[in-house]
Amino acid sequence: MSFMEILAISGSLRSESSNTALLRALQALAPQGHRITLYEGLAELPPFDPGLETEAAPAPVHALRAQLSAADGIIICTPEYAHGMPGILKNALEWTVASGEFVEKPVAALSTSPGATGGEKALAWLIQTLTVMSARIVPEISQPIPFGRSRVKPDGDIVDPALAETLHKILDGLIHAVEARAQTGSQP
Ligand SMILES: Cc1cc2nc3c(=O)[nH]c(=O)nc-3n(C[C@H](O)[C@H](O)[C@H](O)COP(=O)(O)O)c2cc1C
Repeated sequence: MSFMEILAISGSLRSESSNTALLRALQALAPQGHRITLYEGLAELPPFDPGLETEAAPAPVHALRAQLSAADGIIICTPEYAHGMPGILKNALEWTVASGEFVEKPVAALSTSPGATGGEKALAWLIQTLTVMSARIVPEISQPIPFGRSRVKPDGDIVDPALAETLHKILDGLIHAVEARAQTGSQP
């Protein structure tokens, strides 16, 4: 597969977010010929309303769905708030349950926090939600990233070489999963 479009979604709206920083770092490491685009619309999504799911869905929801559909693979990086993923991230996922953009889509599910757990509880919840939505989570690369704030600067500059190695492996794994999906079509 030549050109690959990957959509990266951060679950944090914080301007100095370490989750967004991690995605910026991945963006910079994208191999030539592949593009990683940061999703910028999380804060514009209205609260999920099942009554507005189809044609009546608000414009930001249509935009999210279009970006997800156009992506060959997706990376999500979530912070942990009160042992769960942020409501705004869950809200975004809820808007796509019925429309199905995640179905069979290769996904790298990540989390990071300033501590040693790396937000593993939020990640477990994220994986649970994506699983029920039939996303093709790539298990070997989906992982919590401990001590995120001290390993990557807000602009995406990587401070810790070990993190660069981890991020390279995540990208390789996702690209491989997208290629495998392209070869098998929609077969699981
Ligand atoms: C309301 C709130 C609740 C939090 N709860 C947790 C938690 O349960 N576990 C954890 O590891 N960190 C928790 N944190 C700390 C976040 O992991 C930390 O703020 C992290 O840097 C947020 O991600 P960001 O840098 O991408 O914004 C919490 C932070 C806030 C503001």
